[in-house]
Amino acid sequence: MKPVSMILAWPVAMLVGSAGALAQPTAPGAALAQPPTRGQLLYNTHCIACHSTAMHWRDQRLATDWPSLKAWVERWQSRVLLNWTEADIVEVTRHLNDAIYRFARPAG
Ligand code: HEC
Repeated sequence: MKPVSMILAWPVAMLVGSAGALAQPTAPGAALAQPPTRGQLLYNTHCIACHSTAMHWRDQRLATDWPSLKAWVERWQSRVLLNWTEADIVEVTRHLNDAIYRFARPAG
């Protein structure tokens, strides 16, 4: 008769494996990579479900400069009822701008 531990080992290994994959950004092995910024985490948590980066790369972008990008971030966070602070909005705007848009930032 097989010991119970043998029967359980496979699903447990699967679970640990997938949890490890999910936890990757904070795993020790990823320490050399840039840690995610707060804006990146907020965006990945709340926004990415609906749009991939393709949305932001498309030809007819709605965001055309820093203020309009920030306005879109503000509009979306209120649409999704996140109640972000001004600081959160700036963080996510910065993340999108650094990662994709690269608009000139207004001074300050
Ligand atoms: C319910 C789905 C959904 C969610 C959730 C969502 N978005 Fe969007 N987003 C869209 C759609 C659809 C568009 C395109 C709107 C259009 O073309 O009129 C868009 C467009 C945008 C744009 C403009 C892209 C451009 O053309 O330059 C920005 C910026 C943006 N979203 C940011 C966010 C942020 C930040 C969040 C998280 C707070 C978020 N979105 C959450 C669906 C979503």
